[in-house]
Amino acid sequence: SRDHLEHITSIGPRTTGSPENEILTVHYLLEQIKLIEVQSSSLHKISVDVQRPTGSFSIDFLGGFTSYYDNITNVVVKLEPRDGAQHAVLANCHFDSVANSPGASDDAVSCSVMLEVLHVLSTSSEALHHAVIFLFNGAEENVLQASHGFITQHSWANSIRAFINLEAAGVGGKELVFQTGPENPWLVQAYVSEAKHPFASVVAQEVFQSGIIPSDTDFRIYRDFGNIPGIDLAFIENGYIYHTKYDTADRILTDSIQRAGDNILAVLKYLATSDVLVSSSKYRHGNMVFFDVLGLFVIAYPSRVGSIINCMVVMAAVLYLGKKLLQPKHNTANYRKDFFCGFGITLIGWFTSLVTVLIIAVFISLIGQSLSWYNHFYVSVCLYGTAAAAKIIFIHTLAKRFYYVNASDQYLGEVFFDIALFVNCGSLIALIYGGFCSAFISAVWVAFPLLTKFCVHKDFKQHGARGKFIAFYLLGMFIPYLYALYLIWAVFEMFTPILGRSGSEIPPDVVLASILAGCTMILSSYFINFIYLAKSTQKTMLTLTLVCTVTFLLVCSGTFFPYSSNPASPKPKRVFLQHMTRTFHDLDGKVVKRDSGIWINGFDYTGMSHVTPHVPEINDTIRAHCEEKAPLCGFPWYLPVHFLIRKNWYLPASEVSPREPVHFRLISKEQTPWDSVKLTFEASGPSHMSLYVRPHKGSTLSQWSLGNGTPVTSKGGDYFVFYSHGLQASAWQFWIEVQVLEEQPEGVVTVAIAAHYFSGEDKRSSQLDALKEKFPDWTFPSAWVCTYDLYAF
Ligand SMILES: *[C@@H]1O[C@H](CO)[C@@H](O)[C@H](O)[C@H]1NC(C)=O
Repeated sequence: SRDHLEHITSIGPRTTGSPENEILTVHYLLEQIKLIEVQSSSLHKISVDVQRPTGSFSIDFLGGFTSYYDNITNVVVKLEPRDGAQHAVLANCHFDSVANSPGASDDAVSCSVMLEVLHVLSTSSEALHHAVIFLFNGAEENVLQASHGFITQHSWANSIRAFINLEAAGVGGKELVFQTGPENPWLVQAYVSEAKHPFASVVAQEVFQSGIIPSDTDFRIYRDFGNIPGIDLAFIENGYIYHTKYDTADRILTDSIQRAGDNILAVLKYLATSDVLVSSSKYRHGNMVFFDVLGLFVIAYPSRVGSIINCMVVMAAVLYLGKKLLQPKHNTANYRKDFFCGFGITLIGWFTSLVTVLIIAVFISLIGQSLSWYNHFYVSVCLYGTAAAAKIIFIHTLAKRFYYVNASDQYLGEVFFDIALFVNCGSLIALIYGGFCSAFISAVWVAFPLLTKFCVHKDFKQHGARGKFIAFYLLGMFIPYLYALYLIWAVFEMFTPILGRSGSEIPPDVVLASILAGCTMILSSYFINFIYLAKSTQKTMLTLTLVCTVTFLLVCSGTFFPYSSNPASPKPKRVFLQHMTRTFHDLDGKVVKRDSGIWINGFDYTGMSHVTPHVPEINDTIRAHCEEKAPLCGFPWYLPVHFLIRKNWYLPASEVSPREPVHFRLISKEQTPWDSVKLTFEASGPSHMSLYVRPHKGSTLSQWSLGNGTPVTSKGGDYFVFYSHGLQASAWQFWIEVQVLEEQPEGVVTVAIAAHYFSGEDKRSSQLDALKEKFPDWTFPSAWVCTYDLYAF
């Protein structure tokens, strides 16, 4: 499959509708499938179909938008027993890529693995019971269009009982199962038991499904439009270069490919011979708790079992704490008072440490030094981690010095252990109550310390056994701490790269500082008692403060440059450059404004501040301003991320003149019997176009021919339609219906259409090339030409 990967990526970027995608890649896949077919065993039957679906749907990804596709490409292969099969399992990959990226990990490698798996399965002498459908889809980066076309229109779709989706959110490494279901616990079980090197996490699933990661996969389409359960796998390492020119074949180790292949082959083989697939509805109910242990192996059990374990842990903790707090002994009153005061002090400690790191983070964002840890991850720990820890220790040292003057160290140590248990038990209860499978982490954090406590109880009673106590204690804490550190590490690996593409509005330092403060609080919980057991905390506090201060000063002086062009591990700054010509028409069709320029978007919080020294003409004098009257500020957004990126730059340039210009016209305007206006339009142009609609004051959009007929607004209230077509398509006809309560002098609705040129000569302009040349090598400028036309009706 290495050869397949090399071959597909050597074609270059493969955007939907480009000859690279629609002709060269499709041709290569069909050729390879043909070869596989020739070699296949007579036990199996192979059918190949090239589907070119047309359709439309709305999704709520990125604040919601509607998608329309025409004549895009799916290469579908069905491998089944000689006599056919009634049921099937689907394996999905996509061979298209985003513009200007070779798309090796995302997702050529998965298609290469699937070709290889098809080859192995089809030559195998073992009979299959069910069909395996391999879908090589040609429009995923087009926001999931091809999978929609397949699952809603292909004649084989009805036979599919489960699917495996092979994706990427990074480059290389191991593939993680980061989503399964909905429900259907047998699928995870199948993966865990069959995959040679399983790697899966229900924590990742709950984080991803919370929507805080700005990505989505075909998983959503199969789940929501196909009602099919499945497994979502993705390469997650090195998210810094995902969707950039660095996503190349040489960055994927052959081991990675082998590993992925072994896993997929084993799981597909199992599913294709399993009886569960047939009667999957019988095994539908319930969820699974699953997690890998330090990446070595995966543990999975039904969430019902998980709930029982969690409740037992809660009960044990409640019994332990209840006994201490409520027993009518003469000294419980004191203990109770110290416990609740200690709890208050702990909360104060956490709160002040959060406030401290937030103040530092806001200051650093304001002076323009954010993302200093993007290339040097340790900076975040040295800056925010140390500050948070020092603050917690400081508060407790004060408490020890001034509040608990007369209490013994050991007694206080015990009180604060109980408080930590109480807090963790509280979070466990909250997670159980919220129905989170991730509750198992809190359960570990209650169960292990509690067990340790019971074990060392005797030793603790004897005086002078402090050393022994501490040794035991640390031993008992080893597992929860090791696991928490492992998870925290994973969270960092995942979130740091995302903060390099999370837009210009959210200060990444504030996000990371909060995460670090949270991690410090969790990690500190069972260590607070040591502050009371320790003779002095001065040295620790001093060291932490010193490290924090030195890092702070270095960060302020700009020592840590956020980006890197180091070929071994590049961390580029992502920039979009769109050379565009905009034309604004009034109600009579007259051109009221026309301008041209290169529209520049940085994907992170630092905007152009690091770029300006290298490209002086990109400075704050050319900040683009929002056209208040136009939808989405009058800019040619490719995706509706206008709410994430509010700062853009617009460098005046000459007009663009693509050879395939947009033709957009109103075909008819009818008054409907129910007092609204139906406008029918026709558009033709390049493979990618965006349509923006804004009904004027006093009007609403009541229906349209897109999606399921009901218009869906995107964030901010305008309507966004993502249009694309394959190699060829007839003109796009659609209608919108506007309910008019009160007609304005400027008409009832504004409609704008942007055309994006992602391939061929139309994509380039000499000015764009010249500007791109000036960008330093630690940036990844993704450039294309586009046009924008606005009309009022
Ligand atoms: C800022 O940008 C404008 C327009 O690109 C340019 O004319 C001007 O010289 C730039 N200013 C500096 C200080 O480079």
